[in-house]
Amino acid sequence: MTLEGQINKERLPRHIAIIMDGNGRWAKGQGKFRVFGHHKGVDTVKEITETAAELGVKYLTLYAFSTENWNRPKAEVNALMDLLVKTIKREMPTLMKNNIRLDAIGNMDSLPSKCLKNLNEAKELTCNNSGMTLVLALSYSAKWDICEAVKKIASDVQSGAIKKEEIDNNLITKYLSTHDIPEPELLIRTSGELRISNFLLWEIAYSELYFTDVLWPDFSSEELFKAIIDYQNRERRFGKTSEQLT
Ligand code: IPE
Ligand code: IPE
Ligand code: MG
Repeated sequence: MTLEGQINKERLPRHIAIIMDGNGRWAKGQGKFRVFGHHKGVDTVKEITETAAELGVKYLTLYAFSTENWNRPKAEVNALMDLLVKTIKREMPTLMKNNIRLDAIGNMDSLPSKCLKNLNEAKELTCNNSGMTLVLALSYSAKWDICEAVKKIASDVQSGAIKKEEIDNNLITKYLSTHDIPEPELLIRTSGELRISNFLLWEIAYSELYFTDVLWPDFSSEELFKAIIDYQNRERRFGKTSEQLT
């Protein structure tokens, strides 16, 4: 049976989040500049987005640029922003064809104005698409998002809009930029690094983690199928015993 055929379509993760890592090492391995790897990485984004949408995944969140990535050499940061602007514009027809809605999380104020403009236009144009939501994490870090939420909660307590006693798991979730996105059932990281790198810390409390040595530019639809099959073979207990689940 093909890998895709082994997937139980009734038990797909509703939300898959991916830490797309390894573009630089992939390029180096080819004797090329890092930015070449980022260009190749965009091809993977396209393939994985289309495959996830076709499968019936409802939310796909891609970690594209972290708060910490601003500390990279200026030339690389500029190249990544440039790539982002061009890709969003170029891939609009792909999003429309596949009924995909574009969304973004992160510190939008820190993005170059051209990038923000294209992003907002794409969000606007795709806002009625109902197949899958593609969430780009841009200038995002989980600790930044949690700090923003805490500031808003503090000012709402101060103004009397909410009471201190009302602060619980649900309320905090509502103040995060991911408030209208369900928590990811599956988190994938490519390139062999075994860390979270400040991605969705609150939201992945009970996510299944899948690490692969495959570098992002080499991550194919088949690799996505493998991750989903692996996920479907796990038992999600949420603190209960195995016997309680049956
Ligand atoms: C991931 O690839 C893309 C971004 C973080 C923007 P990297 O650029 O981190 O590639 P490696 O990890 O150096 O190989
Ligand atoms: C994580 O990759 C961020 C993105 C994929 C956007 P990094 O390459 O920045 O992570 P570290 O530095 O290896 O932890
Ligand atoms: Mg990296």
